[in-house]
Amino acid sequence: MSASGADPALLVDGLVVRFGQLEAVGGVSFAVAPGEVFGLLGPNGAGKTTIIRVLTTLLAPTEGRALVAGFDVRKEGLAVRASIGYIPQAISVDGALTAYENLDFYGRVTGVPRRERRERMTEAIETMELAPMLDRLARTLSGGMLRRLEIASALLNRPEVLFLDEPTVGLDPTARGMVWERLQALGVQAGTTILVTTHVMEEAERHCDRLGVIDRGRLVEQGAPAELVARHGVETLEEVFTTVTGRPIGEQGNEDEGRLSDVRAQRRVARRLG
Ligand SMILES: Nc1ncnc2c1ncn2[C@@H]1O[C@H](COP(=O)(O)OP(=O)(O)OP(=O)(O)O)[C@@H](O)[C@H]1O
Ligand SMILES: [Mg+2]
Repeated sequence: MSASGADPALLVDGLVVRFGQLEAVGGVSFAVAPGEVFGLLGPNGAGKTTIIRVLTTLLAPTEGRALVAGFDVRKEGLAVRASIGYIPQAISVDGALTAYENLDFYGRVTGVPRRERRERMTEAIETMELAPMLDRLARTLSGGMLRRLEIASALLNRPEVLFLDEPTVGLDPTARGMVWERLQALGVQAGTTILVTTHVMEEAERHCDRLGVIDRGRLVEQGAPAELVARHGVETLEEVFTTVTGRPIGEQGNEDEGRLSDVRAQRRVARRLG
């Protein structure tokens, strides 16, 4: 059975992840309600991607418990995987296939029943507004179009919970706006729960219902954007970030261009798509 009623869509309870000596996640707990857009913020290396990897069953937790759509990531990995969509930090589509072929491929590998595939694809194409670019090779699509194609792919199994790791990195303001608008529509139309990471405070403030700030593997603050700003008696989310992490956001590299992880990710993309 999946989560219903008042049960949270995501429940993280005392989560610890160690890589040898390094404690990447040091006892994190939070819950996300069905249909909520929850944003994870935090400096580079804070542990955001590691938390997502646990919740998507790619990484076993060292300690603690995590439930996704009511299923335990340790004991019910298959059920968790059937309930989620995951869009990783680096681009994951095949540049040599058309947008349509990419979608069709994802539908097959995620086990969408054959007779439902067509209908699910049509639905995902509409939701992400992909119709004009279906016949184009993925390598000729812009970053924003690629992101929307990836999100469409992740929607084919009608996930209860969607995980997006920095979905707007490297996108221009128009493409960013479009991605967020589509994500919010998804919440409204299908009640999809969304967990998203971003380094852009303005996006977090405008598009997330609630936020969690991760710093050095700990959840140091959480709440609705307006609540956080009021609680700290400041004007902006940037100031909240500075207060709770002890560092201004500029010093931890929120600039998309020039961040090594993004440069690496974008190079991987270029290699893959080229
Ligand atoms: N497979 C791994 N082996 C060893 N250390 C790892 C591994 N994966 C992540 N780490 C370390 O765990 C810490 C958390 O990394 P993580 O990728 O979760 O950070 P992040 O918050 O997603 O950062 P960013 O904003 O740069 O994406 C970092 O110190 C990182 O170097
Ligand atoms: Mg990350």
